[in-house]
Amino acid sequence: MHTALCDQLGIDVPIFAFTHCRDVVVAVSRAGGFGVLGAVGFTPEQLEIELNWIDEHIGDHPYGVDIVIPNKYEGMDANMSADELKSTLNALVPQEHLDFAKKLLADHGVPTGDLDDNALQLLGWTEATATPQVEIALQHPKVTLIANALGTPPADMIKHIHESGRKVAALCGSPAQARKHAEADVDIIIAQGGEGGGHCGEVGSIVLWPQVVKEVAPRPVLAAGGIGSGYQIAAALAMGAQGAWTGSQWLMVEEAENTPVQQATYAKATSRDTVRSRSFTGKPCRMLRNDWTDAWQTAGNPEPLGMPLQYMVSGMAVAATHKYPDQTIDVAFNPIGQVVGQFTKVEKTSTVIERWVQEYLEATSTLNEINEAASV
Ligand SMILES: Cc1cc2nc3c(=O)[nH]c(=O)nc-3n(C[C@H](O)[C@H](O)[C@H](O)COP(=O)(O)O)c2cc1C
Repeated sequence: MHTALCDQLGIDVPIFAFTHCRDVVVAVSRAGGFGVLGAVGFTPEQLEIELNWIDEHIGDHPYGVDIVIPNKYEGMDANMSADELKSTLNALVPQEHLDFAKKLLADHGVPTGDLDDNALQLLGWTEATATPQVEIALQHPKVTLIANALGTPPADMIKHIHESGRKVAALCGSPAQARKHAEADVDIIIAQGGEGGGHCGEVGSIVLWPQVVKEVAPRPVLAAGGIGSGYQIAAALAMGAQGAWTGSQWLMVEEAENTPVQQATYAKATSRDTVRSRSFTGKPCRMLRNDWTDAWQTAGNPEPLGMPLQYMVSGMAVAATHKYPDQTIDVAFNPIGQVVGQFTKVEKTSTVIERWVQEYLEATSTLNEINEAASV
C-alpha cells in the first residue's frame, strides 16, 4: 500500500484521516497514517490549544490541518475583518429563518430559551476567518500539510504555505475544479465523490477518481468518498490514486468524541439514510437524514440561505444539540457518508488501520489469483 506520496510525507501507509478530534489525529498518525485536524469549528485560540496538545502526544509523526475557504460565499468580496463581516452578515439573516429554526428545535424538546439572535456564529469558512488559522498552523513544525475544502486556496496563501516548506492539498468534486487547483500549484488534489460525508458534489467516486487522476497527472491524487475498507483503498489505488482521504470512518472509533448513542445510530443506519442537504451550511453537504433536513426541504417552509448565512441560523441548533447530543439526533447536524451502511461496530483507530491494510492485501491477492488463473 506504500506509495511515492508516503515517502514525500514520511508516513507508512497512504491513509489520510480527516477528523475534528485531536485524539483521532494523534492515533492515526501514530499508527502510520496521516491525521488531519478540521479547523473550521475552532477559534484561533482554540486551534492553538488543540495543536499544542497534538504536538505533545503525536511523537515524531507529521499531521495536517484542514481549513475551509469556499470559492463562493456571501460577503467574499467585502474585504472585511472577521468581526466586520460577522456583523454585516448578521443583519442579512431573516427573522423568519431564525423563528422557523427555533420552532423546529422547540418542537423536538430542545431548549431554545437561552439562544441569542445577536450572537449568531460565523464559522471559520471565509478567508477572513481561515487566514489566522493558517498562521497558527504554520507555527507548528509537525504540521506538514494544509488542506482546503470547497475551493482553490488564494494564491498568496498557497505561496506562503509553500515558502514555509509545507504542502497544500485541496478537495474537488469535478475535473474542472481539479484543474484549477493544479494551475494554482496545489500539490495534492483530493477527489471527493458524492457519496462522501460532508460537502460534496454529485458525481460518484468510481466515476470521478480516474477522471481527476487523468486531468492533473502527474500530480498526486487522493481518493475520497466512500472508503471504509482496504478493498475500497485497493480500488482507489488501482485507478491511479496515491492514497485514500477518509472522514466518516473516524466517527466510529474509540478515540472519537462522538457519544455511544451517536455511534449506535451510525451502526444502525444504512447507506440510504444519508442525504445531500443545504440545511446546515448553505452548500450541499452529505449527512444523516433527519427531521431537520426534511423540514428545510418541505415546500412552503423557508429555503436554506447561502453560505455562511445558513450556519448563522443552524449554528444555534448545532450549539443546542451539542449540549444534549443523545436526545437530539433528529434535529442535529450529523455529517456522514454513504459508507455509514458498512459500519457495524466501534473499533480502535489502530485496529481500523491494521484491518484496512489486511483487506488491501486480500484485494490485491484476489487480483493476482485472477491473473494467475487466466494465464494458465
Ligand atoms: C463529520 C464530517 C465533517 C467534515 N468536515 C469537513 C471539513 O470541515 N473540511 C473538509 O475538507 N472536509 C470535511 N469533511 C469531508 C472529509 O474531509 C472527507 O473528504 C470525506 O469524509 C470523505 O468521504 P467519506 O466520509 O466517505 O470517508 C467532513 C466529513 C465528515 C464525515
